[in-house]
Amino acid sequence: MNHPCYICGLGSSVPSRVLTNADLEKMVETSDEWITTRTGIKERHILDDDANGSDCGVEAARAALSEAGLAPEDVTHLFVATCTPEHLSPSTSCVIAGKLGISASSGRMGRVMCMDFNAACTGFVYGLELARATLALHPEAVVLLVACESLSRRTNFTDRATCVLFGDAAGAVVLRSSCEKPLWKVADVSCAADGSLRELIQIGGGTDARIKVGDSIGPEWFVSMQGMAVFKHAVRNMAEESLGLLERNGMGFEDVDLFIPHQANLRIIKAVGERLGLGEDKVFANVQHYGNTSAATLPLAMADARKSGRLEPGQKVLLTSFGSGMTWGSALLA
Ligand code: UT7
Repeated sequence: MNHPCYICGLGSSVPSRVLTNADLEKMVETSDEWITTRTGIKERHILDDDANGSDCGVEAARAALSEAGLAPEDVTHLFVATCTPEHLSPSTSCVIAGKLGISASSGRMGRVMCMDFNAACTGFVYGLELARATLALHPEAVVLLVACESLSRRTNFTDRATCVLFGDAAGAVVLRSSCEKPLWKVADVSCAADGSLRELIQIGGGTDARIKVGDSIGPEWFVSMQGMAVFKHAVRNMAEESLGLLERNGMGFEDVDLFIPHQANLRIIKAVGERLGLGEDKVFANVQHYGNTSAATLPLAMADARKSGRLEPGQKVLLTSFGSGMTWGSALLA
């Protein structure tokens, strides 16, 4: 059964502090020319020392709830997609719930369920599938899906191969079985993973790091990556997953108004677009301004595409992503 699932509100937020390629030139041996040619990235937003990713998550969530005409206490399920949680425990979803003032007695169902999940950069697509499943079980649910990342807190700013790539951001959507002014219907979602590729991108700092009080931490606590191998998997998996999703819905690329792929690298975005035979007018990119913000890239791109007039409610949107795990997936909005 395909229970209806609508996006009723959308929000995004980035920290105000901007880190440019010129700033990075002063930190590691790199150049604006290298970063621009190899990645397309010109700047990224990063958290100030006194802020946390959940602050952006809260701002994005408030914007999404406001567009949906709802208050925080209406939320019944708060799911946070993140691979950079603030703590191993409590979850960032509980932190965001606390900051939004959502408590035990909140929620239209008399309670709220809060949970983080980690599908890395594919988190937003996985989250849409979670929301569909939740609404099929509880048609009256109000699902708040927040993609919230603080990559700068796990970026090794002495490693030029990775430190130029990442930024911080959050995006949020409210999903319901019905609403007065839906933005898009989540028409279909497909999710995949291959754990044999788990070593291609890693972020340390979990319990595999056997540390004792007083130990100092090393580079294994930060992002590490086999860039070229990831690049190849990214292009192939995003293209094949997107084609498969369209095929099973009896659609072709001519039926899609806007293709929004994961914003990791402009070369990857262009390569996927070319492989699928899409003109630049149908492929959205904003990685130039934010770098790779992992799970947050897709809702952030949707919000930016809307602000710039490239995307209207009700248009057919194809989202696709890939990330550490490896995970990948696509979603069709209509
Ligand atoms: O959400 C998933 C996250 N991951 C990704 O999306 C990453 C996918 N991969 C990529 O985007 C690309 O592989 C990178 C942008 C990471 C790297 O581009 P590349 O074309 O694969 O470069 P490379 O790693 O093969 O490095 C080429 C050269 C090397 O020098 P030598 O060995 O040829 O002398 C690197 O040491 O560029 C050097 N290099 C740099 N030079 C200046 C690597 N990083 C830098 C840098 N500035 N920041």
